[in-house]
Amino acid sequence: MLSNCHLPSNRGNNINGSQNDLAQIIIDSPRDLQFATTSNSSNNNNNSSNNSILTANGWKIENVAVKDFDAVRQLCRDSFPLDYPESWFEEVVNGRFIAFGVYNGDFLTSLLVAELKRIGDCDPEDRELDTNPDSLVVYILSLAVHQLYRRKGIASILLDHLIKTVVDVPPYPKLVFLHVLATNYGAINFYKRFGFQHFATLA
Ligand SMILES: CC(C)(COP(=O)(O)OP(=O)(O)OC[C@H]1O[C@@H](n2cnc3c(N)ncnc32)[C@H](O)[C@@H]1OP(=O)(O)O)[C@@H](O)C(=O)NCCC(=O)NCCS
Repeated sequence: MLSNCHLPSNRGNNINGSQNDLAQIIIDSPRDLQFATTSNSSNNNNNSSNNSILTANGWKIENVAVKDFDAVRQLCRDSFPLDYPESWFEEVVNGRFIAFGVYNGDFLTSLLVAELKRIGDCDPEDRELDTNPDSLVVYILSLAVHQLYRRKGIASILLDHLIKTVVDVPPYPKLVFLHVLATNYGAINFYKRFGFQHFATLA
């Protein structure tokens, strides 16, 4: 029933010419693991400067902030077939995670939420991605684009931004991975286009 997309930690696999030792993984899952983090790290990545980066068409890439709470919640409700607890949205807008979006004016068109963590702090099934528990990995918890803004390259802009600002910079995480429902063919196609490969199917 489930499809599998995977990528061994084949050191030749680069995203957009990335120079680091990187593997990109999709784990298809019939359940949603977006709350499965066991990391105790307090990466407050939104403490960094929130200066806007302009996209080619003049839209902005910015970290989400408390003012975006309602927009983030609505975007997630419209995009995912599950209910997130309110506490999760609070964590997203309060800097618990790496969380940024593309804004058309003040309108939040999209959101990417990720976390930099040790593989040893990931869920047991994810720890098989690397044998060294101290390896740093980037886990993409959430990626969503407002329905009216899809197929315009916005998710690609967000993933590029993650790569430039988190993956291709010190401490150079070794892997980028995520979970996606096996029936989410659009998203799987999107990630494969970026060079992600299937790693495992979870029961
Ligand atoms: C998956 C999602 C994030 C893609 O966002 P997007 O901004 O439309 O993606 P892009 O425009 O950057 O797409 C780049 C390429 O990915 C592929 N792709 C994107 N969406 C696709 C879809 N629905 N079906 C097939 N291929 C798709 C295409 O190759 C596309 O290039 P093209 O438009 O030139 O054909 C968006 O559809 C979405 O928010 N879905 C709901 C939430 C979700 O499933 N998130 C992913 C799981 S965490």
